[in-house]
Amino acid sequence: MPKRSSFKNRFAFYLLAIGSACGLGNLWRFPYIVGENGGGAFLLVYVFLSLTIGLALLIAELMIGHFSGSSILEASRRIAIRTKIPFTYFGWLSVLISAATLAYYSVICGWVLHYLTQFVISLLQSDTNAYLAQMSIGLLQKNGWLQFLLASVHLLLTVVIVVKGIEEGVERWVSYLLPVFGVLVIVLLMGSLSLETTPEVLRFLFYPDFSKLNWGSLGHAVGHVFFTLSLGFGVMVTFGSYLKEKQHLPTVGLRVTVIDTFISILSVLLIFPIAFSSSKIPLTDPSLLFDALPQYLSTFKGGVLFGMVFFLCLWLAALNASVGLLETVTANLIEKRPDFKRSRAATIAGTAILLVTIFPAFSQSLFKDVKISGHSIIETLDLFLINGLLPVAGIGMVVIVLTALTEKDRSDLFIDPMNLTSRIMYSHWKIFLKWLVPSVVVLGLLFQAIGFFLKYRN
Ligand code: PHE
Repeated sequence: MPKRSSFKNRFAFYLLAIGSACGLGNLWRFPYIVGENGGGAFLLVYVFLSLTIGLALLIAELMIGHFSGSSILEASRRIAIRTKIPFTYFGWLSVLISAATLAYYSVICGWVLHYLTQFVISLLQSDTNAYLAQMSIGLLQKNGWLQFLLASVHLLLTVVIVVKGIEEGVERWVSYLLPVFGVLVIVLLMGSLSLETTPEVLRFLFYPDFSKLNWGSLGHAVGHVFFTLSLGFGVMVTFGSYLKEKQHLPTVGLRVTVIDTFISILSVLLIFPIAFSSSKIPLTDPSLLFDALPQYLSTFKGGVLFGMVFFLCLWLAALNASVGLLETVTANLIEKRPDFKRSRAATIAGTAILLVTIFPAFSQSLFKDVKISGHSIIETLDLFLINGLLPVAGIGMVVIVLTALTEKDRSDLFIDPMNLTSRIMYSHWKIFLKWLVPSVVVLGLLFQAIGFFLKYRN
């Protein structure tokens, strides 16, 4: 990876880290996960985990990067040499997860691209709003070739950006768009919160009913915390390596976590009032965002234009995430095979990922009969990667921080001598990292396994 200079501008760094955290995970994935897990109680568990294990791990990943000054594979390799413990496996696990996630993420990015083109097409229609109202993701999901084509276009663009080595510029530009995107979300939110279903939604979201949680809920919450904060992929390790000397890692971690969690809450507040007002929109389906938004936008004038800009921002945010993921894979491939040129490494990685994309792209058509515990291929990939492997990679990060860094390394990087409370926070952070993260991850995996077992038995 071309070594980037550390950030001269603190604000630019924040935008970049927040840009990596906020994206499809918040707007597309989070609302249907909350729907699937019964609302309020899940939301509470999620916010708690985000601010405890999410924050603790984010600080840990930034710390690994800041300490080693390199990406995850290189960091784990150097640490493995020094400690004689095979940490490199954890590094490879992160790289593998990044590649596999990009394969299925590209399909979802293809959905966003499809909607973007549909908004453009609807501008040319005589009755734009009627066109919007009949948009449905169901047709697209049944068309494997179209999904594959859209995912390929998205992936190709990602590869071009990485081959040309212009990801720094792209990330920066996209991160500047973030505030615009935030304003769009807030405008939409004001509209959706004035719908008459809002009181019902607020009850659903803010009156926790713990009986609605199921065996998979804890694992879902853990997995989503990791996914949305980009933990376990090694992305935050790389960001940590760019951070300037003076910056206080816990403050950085806290700000990114709070903003990301806040945006996730805004997302459910935005989507649910719309979904509640139509019986046709399933709360628990990955199509939730794509069904709800066009419906709503079709109800007011200028909705098409608004939707176009909104989906463009969403797609750019997703492109940014995809670039980050492919960059991780490419950089690590070059480290392993120094004879590979950047263009060759990115093309090989992109082609391999594209081949994997075939499975999620055709999961509702060619492979529609392939069900694993009742889930389609795309759902299984999502569950396996995000709820299963990502938390394991997160444990790897915990092990690295706790064994490879000395107590002095950690406390020097954590404690701000001018701030007394940071000393207290440090001891809490260590407890979270050492006890809370591993036990919650293990319980999440165990409960999910029990859930699968019970489902199979019935
Ligand atoms: N955190 C991003 C989201 O919420 C997804 C992502 C994961 C981005 C890993 C980069 C790396 O959409």
